[in-house]
Amino acid sequence: MPHTLLVAGAAGFIGANFAHHMVALGHQVVSLDKLTYAGNLENLASLTGHDRHRFQEGSINDSALLRDLLHRHRPDHVVNFAAESHVDRSIDGPAAFIDTNIAGLFTLLECVRDYCDALPDSGRAAFRFLQVSTDEVYGSIADGAFTEDSPFRPNSPYAASKAAGDGLVRSYNRTYGVPTLISKALAGQPLPVYGDGANERDWLFVGDHCTALEALLRGGEPGETYNVGSGESISNIALVERLCDLLTDIRPPAKGGVS
Ligand SMILES: NC(=O)c1ccc[n+]([C@@H]2O[C@H](COP(=O)([O-])OP(=O)(O)OC[C@H]3O[C@@H](n4cnc5c(N)ncnc54)[C@H](O)[C@@H]3O)[C@@H](O)[C@H]2O)c1
Repeated sequence: MPHTLLVAGAAGFIGANFAHHMVALGHQVVSLDKLTYAGNLENLASLTGHDRHRFQEGSINDSALLRDLLHRHRPDHVVNFAAESHVDRSIDGPAAFIDTNIAGLFTLLECVRDYCDALPDSGRAAFRFLQVSTDEVYGSIADGAFTEDSPFRPNSPYAASKAAGDGLVRSYNRTYGVPTLISKALAGQPLPVYGDGANERDWLFVGDHCTALEALLRGGEPGETYNVGSGESISNIALVERLCDLLTDIRPPAKGGVS
Protein backbone atom coordinates (compact mmCIF):
# COMPACT_ATOMS: atom_id res chain seq x y z
CA MET A 1 0.00 0.00 0.00
CA PRO A 2 1.47 3.40 -0.90
CA HIS A 3 2.32 5.60 2.06
CA THR A 4 2.90 9.31 2.52
CA LEU A 5 6.21 10.14 4.17
CA LEU A 6 7.63 13.33 5.62
CA VAL A 7 11.41 12.96 5.27
CA ALA A 8 13.49 15.49 7.22
CA GLY A 9 17.09 16.01 6.09
CA ALA A 10 16.20 14.73 2.63
CA ALA A 11 18.81 16.78 0.77
CA GLY A 12 21.66 15.08 2.65
CA PHE A 13 23.56 11.95 1.71
CA ILE A 14 21.33 9.19 3.10
CA GLY A 15 18.07 11.19 3.15
CA ALA A 16 18.26 11.88 -0.60
CA ASN A 17 18.96 8.23 -1.38
CA PHE A 18 16.00 7.28 0.81
CA ALA A 19 13.66 9.82 -0.85
CA HIS A 20 14.57 8.37 -4.27
CA HIS A 21 14.16 4.83 -2.95
CA MET A 22 10.68 5.46 -1.55
CA VAL A 23 9.39 7.42 -4.57
CA ALA A 24 10.61 4.57 -6.80
CA LEU A 25 8.61 2.13 -4.68
CA GLY A 26 5.45 4.14 -5.36
CA HIS A 27 5.24 6.14 -2.12
CA GLN A 28 4.51 9.86 -1.76
CA VAL A 29 7.44 11.79 -0.26
CA VAL A 30 7.50 15.29 1.22
CA SER A 31 11.16 16.26 1.63
CA LEU A 32 12.09 18.86 4.23
CA ASP A 33 15.60 20.26 4.52
CA LYS A 34 17.22 23.38 5.94
CA LEU A 35 19.91 23.20 3.24
CA THR A 36 22.88 23.69 5.53
CA TYR A 37 26.40 23.29 4.11
CA ALA A 38 25.67 19.52 4.13
CA GLY A 39 22.39 19.69 2.20
CA ASN A 40 22.43 19.80 -1.58
CA LEU A 41 19.25 20.21 -3.63
CA GLU A 42 21.10 18.64 -6.56
CA ASN A 43 20.71 15.34 -4.69
CA LEU A 44 16.95 15.62 -5.33
CA ALA A 45 17.16 17.23 -8.77
CA SER A 46 15.85 14.23 -10.68
CA LEU A 47 12.69 14.27 -8.52
CA THR A 48 11.86 17.87 -9.48
CA GLY A 49 8.32 18.00 -10.84
CA HIS A 50 7.64 14.37 -9.92
CA ASP A 51 3.99 13.99 -8.92
CA ARG A 52 4.92 11.88 -5.88
CA HIS A 53 7.56 14.27 -4.54
CA ARG A 54 7.50 17.73 -2.94
CA PHE A 55 10.41 19.70 -1.52
CA GLN A 56 10.08 22.19 1.34
CA GLU A 57 13.02 24.24 2.55
CA GLY A 58 12.91 24.65 6.33
CA SER A 59 14.11 23.46 9.70
CA ILE A 60 13.04 20.81 12.19
CA ASN A 61 13.43 23.59 14.78
CA ASP A 62 10.45 25.43 13.21
CA SER A 63 7.34 24.07 14.92
CA ALA A 64 4.88 26.25 12.94
CA LEU A 65 6.26 24.89 9.67
CA LEU A 66 6.24 21.30 10.95
CA ARG A 67 2.64 21.55 12.16
CA ASP A 68 1.59 23.00 8.83
CA LEU A 69 3.34 20.22 6.86
CA LEU A 70 1.83 17.49 9.04
CA HIS A 71 -1.63 19.05 8.76
CA ARG A 72 -1.49 19.51 4.99
CA HIS A 73 0.17 16.23 3.94
CA ARG A 74 -1.12 13.83 6.65
CA PRO A 75 1.95 11.53 6.49
CA ASP A 76 1.74 8.01 7.90
CA HIS A 77 5.52 7.91 8.35
CA VAL A 78 7.91 10.61 9.52
CA VAL A 79 11.59 9.77 8.99
CA ASN A 80 14.27 12.00 10.48
CA PHE A 81 17.70 12.21 8.87
CA ALA A 82 18.07 15.94 9.69
CA ALA A 83 21.21 16.37 11.73
CA GLU A 84 24.57 17.92 12.09
CA SER A 85 26.53 14.81 11.29
CA HIS A 86 30.30 15.35 11.10
CA VAL A 87 32.43 14.41 14.11
CA ASP A 88 35.25 16.85 13.32
CA ARG A 89 32.87 19.81 13.03
CA SER A 90 31.30 18.89 16.37
CA ILE A 91 34.70 19.23 18.01
CA ASP A 92 35.27 22.67 16.45
CA GLY A 93 31.74 23.95 17.16
CA PRO A 94 29.40 21.79 19.23
CA ALA A 95 26.58 24.37 19.61
CA ALA A 96 24.95 23.61 16.24
CA PHE A 97 24.88 19.91 17.15
CA ILE A 98 22.95 20.58 20.35
CA ASP A 99 20.61 22.93 18.49
CA THR A 100 19.69 20.51 15.68
CA ASN A 101 20.28 17.01 17.05
CA ILE A 102 18.65 17.67 20.43
CA ALA A 103 16.52 20.87 20.36
CA GLY A 104 15.39 20.37 16.74
CA LEU A 105 14.57 16.72 17.34
CA PHE A 106 12.62 17.71 20.48
CA THR A 107 10.57 20.21 18.44
CA LEU A 108 9.89 17.57 15.78
CA LEU A 109 8.84 15.02 18.41
CA GLU A 110 6.47 17.50 20.06
CA CYS A 111 4.77 18.22 16.73
CA VAL A 112 4.60 14.50 15.89
CA ARG A 113 3.14 13.72 19.33
CA ASP A 114 0.30 16.21 18.85
CA TYR A 115 -0.29 15.02 15.29
CA CYS A 116 -0.34 11.39 16.41
CA ASP A 117 -2.71 12.10 19.31
CA ALA A 118 -5.23 13.60 16.88
CA LEU A 119 -5.15 10.61 14.50
CA PRO A 120 -8.01 8.13 14.52
CA ASP A 121 -7.12 4.73 16.07
CA SER A 122 -6.45 3.12 12.68
CA GLY A 123 -4.16 5.98 11.60
CA ARG A 124 -2.30 5.88 14.89
CA ALA A 125 -1.77 2.11 14.62
CA ALA A 126 -0.16 2.52 11.19
CA PHE A 127 1.86 5.65 12.05
CA ARG A 128 5.65 5.38 12.55
CA PHE A 129 8.30 7.91 13.55
CA LEU A 130 11.73 6.62 12.45
CA GLN A 131 14.83 8.30 13.87
CA VAL A 132 18.05 7.64 11.98
CA SER A 133 20.91 7.47 14.44
CA THR A 134 24.47 6.19 14.54
CA ASP A 135 26.65 3.52 16.12
CA GLU A 136 28.89 6.38 17.31
CA VAL A 137 26.63 6.55 20.40
CA TYR A 138 28.24 3.30 21.61
CA GLY A 139 31.78 4.70 21.44
CA SER A 140 34.59 2.47 20.27
CA ILE A 141 35.09 -1.25 20.56
CA ALA A 142 38.32 -3.24 20.33
CA ASP A 143 36.79 -6.52 19.15
CA GLY A 144 33.40 -7.88 18.14
CA ALA A 145 30.31 -5.82 17.34
CA PHE A 146 27.91 -3.56 19.21
CA THR A 147 24.45 -4.86 19.96
CA GLU A 148 21.30 -2.85 20.58
CA ASP A 149 21.94 -3.41 24.31
CA SER A 150 25.49 -2.04 24.31
CA PRO A 151 25.89 0.87 26.74
CA PHE A 152 26.11 4.42 25.38
CA ARG A 153 29.68 5.75 25.60
CA PRO A 154 29.74 8.73 23.22
CA ASN A 155 33.22 10.10 22.56
CA SER A 156 32.44 13.32 20.65
CA PRO A 157 29.87 16.11 20.96
CA TYR A 158 28.30 14.68 17.77
CA ALA A 159 27.90 11.24 19.34
CA ALA A 160 26.66 12.76 22.61
CA SER A 161 24.02 14.80 20.79
CA LYS A 162 22.81 11.72 18.89
CA ALA A 163 22.73 9.70 22.13
CA ALA A 164 20.61 12.41 23.77
CA GLY A 165 18.32 12.35 20.73
CA ASP A 166 17.92 8.58 20.99
CA GLY A 167 16.97 9.01 24.64
CA LEU A 168 14.33 11.58 23.72
CA VAL A 169 12.85 9.33 21.03
CA ARG A 170 12.70 6.38 23.41
CA SER A 171 11.02 8.53 26.06
CA TYR A 172 8.34 9.71 23.61
CA ASN A 173 7.50 6.09 22.98
CA ARG A 174 7.50 5.03 26.65
CA THR A 175 5.83 8.19 28.01
CA TYR A 176 3.42 9.26 25.28
CA GLY A 177 3.03 6.08 23.24
CA VAL A 178 4.35 7.63 20.01
CA PRO A 179 5.11 4.64 17.69
CA THR A 180 8.84 5.27 17.28
CA LEU A 181 11.67 3.27 15.72
CA ILE A 182 15.38 3.98 15.99
CA SER A 183 17.83 2.77 13.37
CA LYS A 184 21.54 2.98 14.07
CA ALA A 185 23.76 2.63 11.03
CA LEU A 186 26.90 0.70 11.83
CA ALA A 187 29.27 2.86 9.84
CA GLY A 188 29.54 6.15 8.16
CA GLN A 189 31.56 9.30 8.28
CA PRO A 190 34.08 10.26 5.65
CA LEU A 191 36.91 7.85 5.07
CA PRO A 192 40.16 9.39 6.29
CA VAL A 193 42.87 6.75 6.55
CA TYR A 194 44.55 7.29 9.90
CA GLY A 195 47.89 5.57 10.54
CA ASP A 196 48.15 2.38 8.52
CA GLY A 197 44.38 2.21 7.93
CA ALA A 198 44.11 -1.09 9.76
CA ASN A 199 41.04 -0.03 11.78
CA GLU A 200 38.13 -2.27 10.85
CA ARG A 201 34.52 -1.14 10.49
CA ASP A 202 31.24 -2.60 9.39
CA TRP A 203 30.79 -0.51 6.22
CA LEU A 204 27.32 -0.35 4.71
CA PHE A 205 26.22 0.55 1.17
CA VAL A 206 23.71 3.42 1.29
CA GLY A 207 21.22 1.57 -0.94
CA ASP A 208 21.23 -1.36 1.47
CA HIS A 209 20.69 1.08 4.35
CA CYS A 210 17.61 2.51 2.58
CA THR A 211 16.24 -1.00 1.99
CA ALA A 212 16.67 -1.72 5.71
CA LEU A 213 14.92 1.51 6.72
CA GLU A 214 11.97 0.69 4.48
CA ALA A 215 11.79 -2.81 5.99
CA LEU A 216 11.76 -1.27 9.49
CA LEU A 217 8.84 0.98 8.59
CA ARG A 218 6.95 -2.09 7.36
CA GLY A 219 7.82 -4.58 10.06
CA GLY A 220 9.72 -2.90 12.91
CA GLU A 221 8.31 -3.17 16.41
CA PRO A 222 7.35 0.30 17.76
CA GLY A 223 9.59 1.34 20.65
CA GLU A 224 12.52 -0.76 19.42
CA THR A 225 16.02 0.11 18.30
CA TYR A 226 17.66 -1.68 15.36
CA ASN A 227 21.36 -1.75 14.51
CA VAL A 228 21.76 -1.88 10.74
CA GLY A 229 25.03 -3.15 9.29
CA SER A 230 26.48 -5.32 6.57
CA GLY A 231 27.74 -7.90 9.07
CA GLU A 232 31.13 -7.81 7.33
CA SER A 233 34.01 -5.85 8.81
CA ILE A 234 36.72 -4.60 6.52
CA SER A 235 39.73 -2.43 7.29
CA ASN A 236 39.61 1.19 6.10
CA ILE A 237 42.68 0.70 3.89
CA ALA A 238 41.25 -2.47 2.28
CA LEU A 239 38.03 -0.58 1.48
CA VAL A 240 39.96 2.35 -0.03
CA GLU A 241 42.01 -0.08 -2.14
CA ARG A 242 38.85 -1.81 -3.38
CA LEU A 243 37.25 1.53 -4.28
CA CYS A 244 40.41 2.63 -6.12
CA ASP A 245 40.45 -0.66 -8.08
CA LEU A 246 36.80 -0.18 -9.06
CA LEU A 247 37.40 3.43 -10.11
CA THR A 248 40.45 2.38 -12.12
CA ASP A 249 38.30 -0.23 -13.91
CA ILE A 250 35.59 2.35 -14.66
CA ARG A 251 37.97 5.11 -15.69
CA PRO A 252 41.54 3.96 -16.22
CA PRO A 253 44.10 6.71 -15.56
CA ALA A 254 45.41 8.52 -18.64
CA LYS A 255 48.84 7.41 -19.82
CA GLY A 256 51.44 8.94 -17.56
CA GLY A 257 48.73 9.88 -15.01
CA VAL A 258 48.74 8.92 -11.37
CA SER A 259 46.74 5.82 -10.60
N1 LIG B 1 26.59 9.21 6.70
C1 LIG B 1 26.72 8.12 7.41
O1 LIG B 1 27.46 7.23 7.02
C2 LIG B 1 25.94 7.93 8.70
C3 LIG B 1 26.25 6.86 9.51
C4 LIG B 1 25.50 6.66 10.65
C5 LIG B 1 24.46 7.50 10.96
N2 LIG B 1 24.18 8.56 10.18
C6 LIG B 1 23.05 9.44 10.55
O2 LIG B 1 22.17 9.47 9.44
C7 LIG B 1 21.58 10.75 9.33
C8 LIG B 1 21.82 11.29 7.93
O3 LIG B 1 23.23 11.28 7.67
P1 LIG B 1 23.83 11.92 6.35
O4 LIG B 1 25.17 11.35 6.15
O5 LIG B 1 22.82 11.82 5.25
O6 LIG B 1 23.98 13.44 6.82
P2 LIG B 1 24.21 14.74 5.95
O7 LIG B 1 25.05 15.65 6.80
O8 LIG B 1 24.68 14.40 4.58
O9 LIG B 1 22.74 15.33 5.82
C9 LIG B 1 22.05 15.94 6.86
C10 LIG B 1 20.96 16.79 6.24
O10 LIG B 1 20.21 17.40 7.29
C11 LIG B 1 19.95 18.75 6.91
N3 LIG B 1 19.71 19.53 8.13
C12 LIG B 1 20.62 19.91 9.06
N4 LIG B 1 20.00 20.60 10.04
C13 LIG B 1 18.69 20.63 9.74
C14 LIG B 1 17.54 21.17 10.35
N5 LIG B 1 17.63 21.84 11.53
N6 LIG B 1 16.34 20.99 9.76
C15 LIG B 1 16.23 20.33 8.58
N7 LIG B 1 17.28 19.81 7.94
C16 LIG B 1 18.49 19.95 8.50
C17 LIG B 1 21.19 19.19 6.14
O11 LIG B 1 20.93 20.31 5.32
C18 LIG B 1 21.51 17.93 5.35
O12 LIG B 1 20.82 17.92 4.12
C19 LIG B 1 22.22 11.63 10.41
O13 LIG B 1 21.30 11.72 11.47
C20 LIG B 1 23.45 10.86 10.83
O14 LIG B 1 23.68 11.07 12.22
C21 LIG B 1 24.91 8.80 9.05
